[in-house]
Amino acid sequence: MQRKLIRIVALILMVVSFIAYIAKAPAFPIASENLLPWSMWFFIFALANIILWQSVVKLLSFSLMVIWFYAFAASIVPETSTATVDLGDIERTPEAFVDAGGIIFNGKGKCNTCHTLDTSAPPGRCPDLTDVGTSAATRQPGMTAKEYLIESLYEPHTFLVAGYGNIMPPVWKPPISLTELEIETVIAFLQSQGGEVDLTPFEPPVDIGSADAIVEEQPPLLTGDVARGERVFVEGAKCIACHAVAGIEQPAGQTLDDGVEVVAAPDLTDIAALNQPRYIEESVLLPNAQIVSGYGSVTVKAGGATIQGTLVTQDNEQITVRVKDAAGNEEERIIPLTELDPEPIEELADLKGKGFFWIQMTLADTGVTVSGDLVEEDDENVTLQVGGETQTVSKSNVRVQATLIDFDENVIVGELVSENEDEVILNVDGEEQIIDTFDIDEGPTYSRAFGKRLVVTSPMPDNFPLLLSVSDMSDLLAYLLSLTGATDATAVEAAEETAE
Ligand code: HEC
Ligand code: HEC
Repeated sequence: MQRKLIRIVALILMVVSFIAYIAKAPAFPIASENLLPWSMWFFIFALANIILWQSVVKLLSFSLMVIWFYAFAASIVPETSTATVDLGDIERTPEAFVDAGGIIFNGKGKCNTCHTLDTSAPPGRCPDLTDVGTSAATRQPGMTAKEYLIESLYEPHTFLVAGYGNIMPPVWKPPISLTELEIETVIAFLQSQGGEVDLTPFEPPVDIGSADAIVEEQPPLLTGDVARGERVFVEGAKCIACHAVAGIEQPAGQTLDDGVEVVAAPDLTDIAALNQPRYIEESVLLPNAQIVSGYGSVTVKAGGATIQGTLVTQDNEQITVRVKDAAGNEEERIIPLTELDPEPIEELADLKGKGFFWIQMTLADTGVTVSGDLVEEDDENVTLQVGGETQTVSKSNVRVQATLIDFDENVIVGELVSENEDEVILNVDGEEQIIDTFDIDEGPTYSRAFGKRLVVTSPMPDNFPLLLSVSDMSDLLAYLLSLTGATDATAVEAAEETAE
């Protein structure tokens, strides 16, 4: 009787732990400590059942264990596989191309290490590609979906999706090195995500044959020692405080130099498998050159208040900013770009560089005020998107507002009519006022336009080139270039951890 009870309990526990394991339930906690992952519980209970029961249940337990074994073995195989397909005699049919493209997307192409195909996935460093088969046609006026996809893969830097950094590697270059045919299959796969697959052959926009030569031309400037570099990463520069690397324990509560806060930063486990040496080098030397989407810091003014936080997502209409309140609680706020406060602009130079995306100017000749999104600028002109059209305004044809304070502490604000060494002539409420430069205490300051801007900076310190010696920096870079992820023992450990 008692034995029967033990058997039934063991059977129930085995089934429950098997379901929990398959459903990827969080590990079973006692006093908030994880005792064992479900995979291990299942293994124990399955063994118990094999011992306790006869025939039928023994067989059942055994078959569950076989299933478990395959699932477990699959889960410890690194997530970023380098699966390739033999395209030697692939049939030119949509099905064959889409299938092959899917394997390359998740394998050799490493696309899945950056991109998701699941709209419910949290927004990451790269756009979700769920409906890219159709959305690709809407990205660039005059470009078909296929043309846009070709451009995206061969020359990803040409058109950046709003809100994302220029970090996608051209997939035909090392380290990813897809062949022309492989790229064709990936394009078919992308088209199959919500669109029509079109296998018409095309001419690649770049000469793939030169790929290796280009990279050879640009080897990293510095070369060093990997093992010493790891020490710089962990102890010397404390990169590990912000960045995880599989196989290295991340010390909790590490403190950085004054004024540097430990923040969420990209996992660097396979940074070198995805990126060229030059990009990695630049990331450390000039963190602001390219900011990984989702990690930048942003400060904006809206409704008179200054909002500071992490820029989570950005598109043409709104931004999502993660802010921390005084108590340290994090909250995401969605701010429509139209709600940002316009700031006065003194000089109409390098507007994009200063983060401006919307400008309002009053034309000097007609007095008409124009405003719109900033399209282009050069030394002479500023081009705005006004309604459905673009309008180019000459920088010499904008009304300049001047503000100055005289020695009687009067603040005088007016439109600049003219100025020379001796006097400044302002139009104040329709009347011309001549102010002797001797009478000016402060100013004049000018405002030529108003603009809305979004300035995104990297929270990563940019003073490592100053803090580290050249030899430490060389070793550090050598170490980063060795981080190709899921090929060695550390990667298997990491995969095991995630499997739990
Ligand atoms: C290192 C990360 C990274 C890898 C690897 C990567 N991408 Fe990207 N990809 C990005 C980022 C970031 C963007 C957005 C910026 C831009 O447009 O270049 C992007 C943009 C795209 C776009 C345009 C999406 C849109 O909505 O307009 C496509 C298509 C695309 N990637 C396909 C791929 C494919 C296919 C692969 C694999 C062969 C791949 N990417 C590998 C980071 C990556
Ligand atoms: C205060 C936290 C912090 C520290 C310390 C830090 N980083 Fe970063 N790092 C970041 C953040 C945040 C980003 C993403 C934003 C960006 O692109 O600049 C980043 C980006 C990077 C990237 C590009 C990653 C990618 O996926 O493209 C590399 C490479 C990198 N860091 C290396 C280092 C190295 C090496 C060190 C130590 C010398 C270091 N970081 C120290 C926060 C940090």
